[in-house]
Amino acid sequence: MGESEGAGRVAGKVAFITGAARGQGRSHAVRLAEEGADVIAVDVCAAVEGTPYPGATPAELEETGRAVEALGRRCVTAVADVRDAEALGAVLDDAVPRLGGLDVVVANAGIVNLPKPAIELEPAAWQQMIDVNLTGVWNTCRLAAPRMIEAGRGGSIVITSSAGALKGYPGVANYIAAKHGLVGLTRSLAVELGPERIRVNHVAPTQVSTPMIHNDAVYRLFVPDAEQPSREEFAAASEAIHLLPTPWVEPVDVANAVLFLASEEERFITATTLPVDAGVNQH
Ligand SMILES: NC(=O)c1ccc[n+]([C@@H]2O[C@H](COP(=O)([O-])OP(=O)(O)OC[C@H]3O[C@@H](n4cnc5c(N)ncnc54)[C@H](O)[C@@H]3O)[C@@H](O)[C@H]2O)c1
Repeated sequence: MGESEGAGRVAGKVAFITGAARGQGRSHAVRLAEEGADVIAVDVCAAVEGTPYPGATPAELEETGRAVEALGRRCVTAVADVRDAEALGAVLDDAVPRLGGLDVVVANAGIVNLPKPAIELEPAAWQQMIDVNLTGVWNTCRLAAPRMIEAGRGGSIVITSSAGALKGYPGVANYIAAKHGLVGLTRSLAVELGPERIRVNHVAPTQVSTPMIHNDAVYRLFVPDAEQPSREEFAAASEAIHLLPTPWVEPVDVANAVLFLASEEERFITATTLPVDAGVNQH
């Protein structure tokens, strides 16, 4: 546990969250801080080439920091790309001693790019996806885990995969392949880190209401026959894939799952999948 223990389900823990400027990452930061954690919030804060929606900004990352601090917790924010292991390592070198250790990792940063059938994907688009959504998560975990081991107090790594980690969907083979890869990474890390009392699990969300889905490219993927699909048309198509009557879940729905896995409430859950998917995959 970190320096200042208070009340809450993750009181006194230190959480390292990637992709924390907005969307789910910000929600994870706020939800964990509400339950007593201090936060290391990292984001690239720029458009990642090829993504069909605006990038996050430094101002958004600062806003995450302020939201955590408004809850009475400490937050170290840093701009870094998960593809840049050197930069990520430097962030941890600086922040972990300042916050007094590392207990929780939320490897959340990720992208989608323009949908295309697998056999038409440019090699660069394939590689970029693997670099960010798979290698970036491996970087996050491989740099964080030694610091957790060193602290000797166990911990929890939560990887953000996707409903697309468990099933194929058309037009996004690079995304699906990277996310399926995260299942293997989760299981391998869980095997290797179990003796250190470090649990490793992944959350597998369906559509989450963030900039990643609210853009023309994703709307067209779901409503291919419309010239310019509206939010309402997208919502109807998205709702049709779910068992529960909802087009998407909110970031806090995923944050609640992350919080559960990060806390000690179920200290013996490891190497598993926690779907937050409104039944899309019918587990
Ligand atoms: N939105 C969805 O429907 C959905 C569904 C399932 C899984 N996911 C996954 O959830 C995670 C979070 O996505 P979101 O929905 O919050 O989208 P988002 O685009 O709002 O947030 C993603 C964040 O990650 C950051 N990021 C992207 N590339 C990065 C890099 N190379 N280095 C550091 N930061 C980087 C972005 O700047 C952004 O702040 C992603 O891994 C995504 O694949 C999203």
